[in-house]
Amino acid sequence: MKKNTKLKVSIVMGSQSDYKIMKQAEKTLKKIGISFETKIISAHRTPQRMYKYATKAEQNHIGVIIAGAGGSAHLPGMISALTHIPVLGVPVESKKLKGLDSLLSIVQMPKGIPVGTLAIGEDGAINAALLAAAIIANNDMNVLKKLQIFRRSQTKSVKKTPK
Ligand code: RP5
Repeated sequence: MKKNTKLKVSIVMGSQSDYKIMKQAEKTLKKIGISFETKIISAHRTPQRMYKYATKAEQNHIGVIIAGAGGSAHLPGMISALTHIPVLGVPVESKKLKGLDSLLSIVQMPKGIPVGTLAIGEDGAINAALLAAAIIANNDMNVLKKLQIFRRSQTKSVKKTPK
């Protein structure tokens, strides 16, 4: 990874059907003002697209990858196997097992190839975006400031007494 280059977050998902969850990551990054791209890449149905994407990610100035997938959910792990860029996995709720399958698949990576696994569904997508921003912020003062502003405003929004 080149130093002093602005890095973006890349959001990928296994299917169009994952977008209803993964757009929460987009919304969060937009709210903070962090640049990102979004793509559909399936580990099983478009393996060559996945290979090309992961092996070119560094030269495309991607600093963190957020990968959402459901069911057998191999996408985050396979991407992580092909790049040194940090990969955050979002387990998408599946029809049959409510995302428990996705969670267990993504979280149970063998040692040597890590995937930072978030919660199932929207909470996971939102927190993946916040974690991605925090990783980028390590080397980007501008992103750090935006993240600090977001946190302050979130704190202010919590009322002291219930209505
Ligand atoms: C996974 O299969 C995708 O990530 C998606 O969550 C799930 C179902 O895909 P579709 O059948 O809706 O395309 O690969």
